[in-house]
Amino acid sequence: MSSKTEKNLAYAFAAESKASARNSAFALRARHDGYPQIECLFRAIAEAESVHARRYLNFIRGKIGTTEQNLEAAFNNEIKANVEEYPKLIKDAADDGIKTVEEAFTQSRDVESRHAELYKKAMTDMLSKRQTTYYVCQVCGYVSEDEAPDNCPICGAVRVKFKLVE
Ligand SMILES: [Fe+2]
Ligand SMILES: [Fe+2]
Repeated sequence: MSSKTEKNLAYAFAAESKASARNSAFALRARHDGYPQIECLFRAIAEAESVHARRYLNFIRGKIGTTEQNLEAAFNNEIKANVEEYPKLIKDAADDGIKTVEEAFTQSRDVESRHAELYKKAMTDMLSKRQTTYYVCQVCGYVSEDEAPDNCPICGAVRVKFKLVE
């Protein structure tokens, strides 16, 4: 594949991923503003942009491997975010004196190590085929196994802020 197209696939993947996240945020705002039909539209198009993103990712060499390889890649990405990427972002936010963003980056950094832990566990559990449900904190992204905690250990959000993924 020509390198121009490879670059464009990477660009399209990133752009579609962003569009999906943006539309999901717009959907939540529409719900908050009392427009359930508009919420539904934003969610549908967010889903569609995800379809695009996945489609392009599939063309990018080496990005999707076997499940064992993907667990390892996902684990490594979380560690990198925790150890290298977020610390830089946290420092810049602190330098700029923007406390709210510094706190958000700090919580994300802490949540990433939790994500890494879950991937690590899954690498072993794949063998035992353990069935687990997950609850995701809608404020900070902390993931809890089997049940939602009374309060999020990272951001303190109450139980109703957790969304079930099964
Ligand atoms: Fe993560
Ligand atoms: Fe949280």
